[in-house]
Amino acid sequence: MNKTEKQNLSDALNWRYAVKKFEKREINTEELENTVKEILQQTPTSFWLQAYKFVIVKDEETRKELQKFSWDQTQVTDADMYIVFTVPTNFDVTFIEKHMKNMQNIRGLDDRVTHAITDYMANKVIETGEEIWITNYEDWLAKQAYIALWNLMTWLALLDVDTCAIEWLLPKEYDRILNLEEKQLTSKVAIAIGKRHPDDKYQNFKKVRFSPDELFLEI
Ligand SMILES: Cc1cc2nc3c(=O)[nH]c(=O)nc-3n(C[C@H](O)[C@H](O)[C@H](O)COP(=O)(O)O)c2cc1C
Repeated sequence: MNKTEKQNLSDALNWRYAVKKFEKREINTEELENTVKEILQQTPTSFWLQAYKFVIVKDEETRKELQKFSWDQTQVTDADMYIVFTVPTNFDVTFIEKHMKNMQNIRGLDDRVTHAITDYMANKVIETGEEIWITNYEDWLAKQAYIALWNLMTWLALLDVDTCAIEWLLPKEYDRILNLEEKQLTSKVAIAIGKRHPDDKYQNFKKVRFSPDELFLEI
């Protein structure tokens, strides 16, 4: 990493903050949407499973409904984009099969190898959870969704695009409003994406972070 790149990274990390007030704009978000989709698509997941769906909520009325169940946070309706990160409620061996089929197509694996890996994963990951000591699949999948969330926030900061993670939401109500139950999905977290309002006082606040001495242990 050269000096300029390091400076750009530090600038972006300092520039970004959790936006409380977005500038409400009527803009064409096609370019932003494509960028967001690329970042989310490239996010790594455990065992490549990608067992999540990103629900891009475009309908204004739906966003107003969601706002009611997000502590009335205005980011839900004012941001250029609002995306809800959801995970399946029916996680089972079919996800492994779907993933392995995709991998076979992309990497040209032969059937024997594909079946062997599928069986191994079905047994170790799904049936017993033995290999990764999973006790709660929904939590495990939610972790993957949070990684996607942060991956998106960081890259957008580097592109001067503002965000706010939205965790204060009621999943049950989100699931109802977005008809997620019938799709066997459930909401975990959301993100508002857009442009900070010049009046948002939070942009002037100093970052509150512990010092490296507090955060890191060297053993
Ligand atoms: C997973 C997650 C969920 C969050 N949920 C909310 C939220 O619902 N509403 C909100 O205003 N800020 C939310 N935040 C913002 C945090 O409060 C904020 O990132 C933190 O205080 C650090 O400040 P900074 O991001 O401005 O540097 C969330 C942040 C994260 C990482």
